[in-house]
Order: sequence, then C-alpha cells, then structure tokens
Amino acid sequence: MTDMYTQLVSRGPGRDIARKLGLPQPVVLRRYLPDQPLITGPVLVQGAGSGADELAATLLSWNLDVRRHAVPKEKLGAIILVLDELGRPEDLARPVLTAATSLRDLAPNSRVITVSRTAADTADPAVAAARQGVDGLLRSLAKELRAGATGNGILLAGGVRTTSPSTLGALRFFLSGRSAFVDGQFLTVSSAEGQLPAHAGKPLAGKVAVVTGAARGIGAAIARTLYRDGATLVVVDIPAAGDHLAAVANEVRGTALQLDISRTDAGQRIIDHAVERHGRLDIVIHNAGITRDKLLANMDEGRWNSVIAVNIAAQLRINEALLASGHFRSSPRIVSVASTSGIAGNRGQTNYAASKGGVMGMVRATAPLIGTHGGSINAVAPGFIETEMTAKIPFAVREVARRLNSLQQGGQPGDVAEAIAFLASDAAGGISGEVLRVCGQNLVGA
Ligand code: NAI
Repeated sequence: MTDMYTQLVSRGPGRDIARKLGLPQPVVLRRYLPDQPLITGPVLVQGAGSGADELAATLLSWNLDVRRHAVPKEKLGAIILVLDELGRPEDLARPVLTAATSLRDLAPNSRVITVSRTAADTADPAVAAARQGVDGLLRSLAKELRAGATGNGILLAGGVRTTSPSTLGALRFFLSGRSAFVDGQFLTVSSAEGQLPAHAGKPLAGKVAVVTGAARGIGAAIARTLYRDGATLVVVDIPAAGDHLAAVANEVRGTALQLDISRTDAGQRIIDHAVERHGRLDIVIHNAGITRDKLLANMDEGRWNSVIAVNIAAQLRINEALLASGHFRSSPRIVSVASTSGIAGNRGQTNYAASKGGVMGMVRATAPLIGTHGGSINAVAPGFIETEMTAKIPFAVREVARRLNSLQQGGQPGDVAEAIAFLASDAAGGISGEVLRVCGQNLVGA
C-alpha cells in the first residue's frame, strides 16, 4: 500500500511547496536493512552517574562514535539521556537543558532515547515525581522532533542496570531502523533476563516460530521478518485462505497449517504440528484478528461474539495449551497483536476494542505464568498501518487518519513486524507483560 503524498513532499519541489503552504511534511523513514549501521552519526550520551558511564563504554565497544560532551554544530545520530539517578524533580533541569542545546544538531531520522527508572518502584513521592516527569517530558519532546526523528524511553525496574541485556536490547531496537514507526513510547525492562544475539543479523536463528493469520497483511509481514531474522516458520490461517497461506509458507521456506484458531483444539494442533514437522516450538505470534464494526446501539450478538472469539478467547485458550505443554519450556516467547483502538477507543469498534483491551490485560496477567518457564509475553499495539484493510477507508477519512501522528504518515506492516521480531528475540527476554505501540505517536486519544 503506498502513500504517494509522503513520496511527493519528502524531496525536491514538492517539499518546498508543502513547506510554503504549511502542509504536513512527512519524510521517508529510515527502515532497517540487514548490514545497515545501527545508527549513522555520533551518539551523544548525556547524564552524570555511573550508569551513564557504563552505558557509554558499552556503546564504544559496539564501535559507535560516542560523545560524552556535544561538539558544537556536529550533526548527531542520537542523543541518549541517562536519568537513572533522579532524586527529585529539580534534578531534571541540568541534564535535560544540557541535552536541549544539542536538539537542533539532530540529523534526519535520528533518535532521542531516555533511560530512567520506573516511578511505580518507589514509595518516595519526590523520587516518583521526578521519574514520572520523564514520561511527560519524553512524550512532549517526541512531538517536537522533526524529519523522521523519534523519541522513546527505556524504564528500568528494580535492580535492572543501564547495561543489563534487555536494556541494551531495547536500546539497539530504538536506535535502529527497526523502530522507525515507534515514537513517544516507553519499554520497561523488568528483569536482568535475556541476552544479546551472537549474530546480530540472525537473532532468531535456531528458533521455531508460529504466526497466526499469516496468509496476508501484517501476519505475512511478520512471517517474512522472522524468517529474515533466522527463525523456522509455521504459518497458520483459516482453510479458506489456504492458497495465499501456501504462497507465504513457500516464500519463507516454512510449513503451512490450515486452522481456525477459534477451534477448541487449536493450541494442541499448533504444538503437534510444530513438534512433528520442526522438532520444537519457541515463539508464538498471535496476529489473527477480525473486525465486525457497528455502533453499539446497532450491535448484534453475532458481531460481538465472533470478534471476542477470534481476537481474545482463542489466544487465551491457545496460551493455556502452550503453558501446559512440555514442548514450550525453553525461553518461550509469546507476542500478541493488540491495537491502539483497545487503548484510546474507536467509534464503531466497541467489540473490537473490548477484545484488544482484553489482549493487553491477558498479556499482563500471563507474564508471571510464562516467567516460571524463563519466558516472556508482550503485545504490540499498531496504530494506522497501510494495509488492504485501511486502503478501503474512504480517501478523506484515510488521509486525516494517517497524518494524525507525530510522523505524519501511516506505518507499514513491516514496522509492526519489526517490533514483534524484537520482542520475540532473547534480546528482549527481560521485557514481559508490556504493550508497545507502533503508531508513530498517534495524536488522538490515549
Ligand atoms: P487482515 O484481515 O489483512 O489479516 C488477518 C488474517 O487473519 C487473515 O489472513 C485472516 O484470514 C486471518 N484470520 C482471521 N480469523 C482467523 C481465524 N479464526 N483463524 C485463523 N486465521 C484467521 O488484517 P491485518 O490488517 O493484517 O491485521 C492483523 C492484525 O493486526 C489483527 O489482529 C488486527 O486486529 C491488527 N491490527 C491491524 C491494524 C491495521 O491498521 N491494519 C491496526 C491495529 C491492529
């Protein structure tokens, strides 16, 4: 699905005309390509404590061009603002205002990333105020950045350090083109679990992954991305989508399983297929989903029940089978596709939003259960993504919807897939029970 306007105004005369008329000026985002550098240009690490020093030393060991002090007028690839030792709100001023002097030097598609501690972890009101302040600060700053630059934050819980594996995993994700459409978001690292991959280009090598709803759209993009990252794929979809499913399975050299995920035996069928055909099961991506939109006043039982059955009840039942299975015990990872509708609400989507809100509640409550097997579960909540579904929205409504975010464009299915691939990797092993929005920082709603 193309967005002609972004192509037109991102360079040459089109860009000048859009600027003069005060029209939105989306740029073509830097998206991940294998062998692409993590980030282009120097990385400025700001913050005074030992956490900042240790992080800067780690980035140096990755061969990044690291600065601890800004060089005037030098174009920056990223600013990392380490705020892990805040004691009261006044402590924000110095590091934040120092970083502010470098914001004009950020290159297009650059990154600002905060590393701070979770406010919920402290009973001290001043510490909590300072930590929670980072939330409002970062989300506002992300709205001020331009030219494809994004702002995201990493929250450290408990004893997690600035150099714990999943802190570094999240940092690599946010720095890279994998997070192109993630903006104004936080990821909490809740434990020191996880490990960075031995081979950065194939982080899922040796893993067997199942993707539901993979015959088309976002699910097919997830299958392609997991395959690129080294996983062996089982792609699942309803029998009616069998031809498309077979084509995707061929493309990713995986196997196809024709299955309606709302069947009561779906979990066992998935486990049996993965184990019989590939010898193991490591990753399950719950992507299959449907919409049956109607205003609640006009809602019928059929529409309500089918959306709940496919979008959440099926996931709960499959997870029960997975958690009970002896074949899903080796750092198992589950990632579910939610939606920003489940957070901010959407007119005509009470059933869909209830199901997607349900996905987020399920993920939070399942995290401790899968944690007992050394595993993790997370959700990704896409905003406006350029798919067959959104291409059907009438032009004017679609144009407004896709521009109403900080990056002034819709996301690509691959953007959702990149976030999922990261959360399915061992680099994210210390992140569980989280919801990551891939929405370009939607300006409307929560
Ligand atoms: P899509 O309609 O293009 O693809 C969904 C796939 O799931 C289809 O291949 C369909 O056959 C399959 N499926 C449906 N019911 C199934 C069942 N009972 N068993 C097995 N497979 C089944 O949808 P799209 O746009 O690719 O969405 C994928 C996911 O992303 C869904 O969960 C959707 O709710 C979510 N999402 C999509 C957004 C967008 O902008 N397109 C925004 C937010 C969330």
